[in-house]
Amino acid sequence: MKALYLVGFMGSGKTTVGAELARRLNVPVVDTDHYIEQQTGRTINDIFAEEGEEKFRLFETAVLEQLPTNDIIITTGGGLFMKEENRRWMKEGGTVIYLHCDFKEIWARLQDDHTRPLLHHQNFEKAKALYEWRQPFYEQADITIHTTGKQVDHVCEEILSLIKDEAPRT
Ligand code: S3P
Repeated sequence: MKALYLVGFMGSGKTTVGAELARRLNVPVVDTDHYIEQQTGRTINDIFAEEGEEKFRLFETAVLEQLPTNDIIITTGGGLFMKEENRRWMKEGGTVIYLHCDFKEIWARLQDDHTRPLLHHQNFEKAKALYEWRQPFYEQADITIHTTGKQVDHVCEEILSLIKDEAPRT
């Protein structure tokens, strides 16, 4: 099976859905943010604060290119798919799945979150503007799944039915 890359805005459920998909497909799952935190020994907040977003984006591309492109699920930070180089890598090497969730649901989940530097001190309108600006990029994914109001199991079933020709179920 080619790598499955999950993309989408912060709080769209990539990590949760990725973990459940990995369980069902019996393949490993790697989260790019988690991987970067492990490799650097620092949190995403600290990396943004100490080295800036640009450096973080370099880490993301490096991690992406280090990871396998077969028999793996890779859940990505919400900004990773904005970079052309990353989009090309992911689309050439694997299948990219966009988890689309309405902004209101995302906002409700993220309001009290302090782990995402890009949302610190952002109000609803500013965060929504970023969400909207990113849509045309996310829409370049191979598959879009609408997740608003859906349970994780339902989302996984939809993904599995769409990729069934190439992902053997265990
Ligand atoms: C970011 C999303 C975060 C993390 C970083 C930047 C973004 O990951 O990579 O805070 O630019 O959207 P999640 O999408 O897992 O929250």
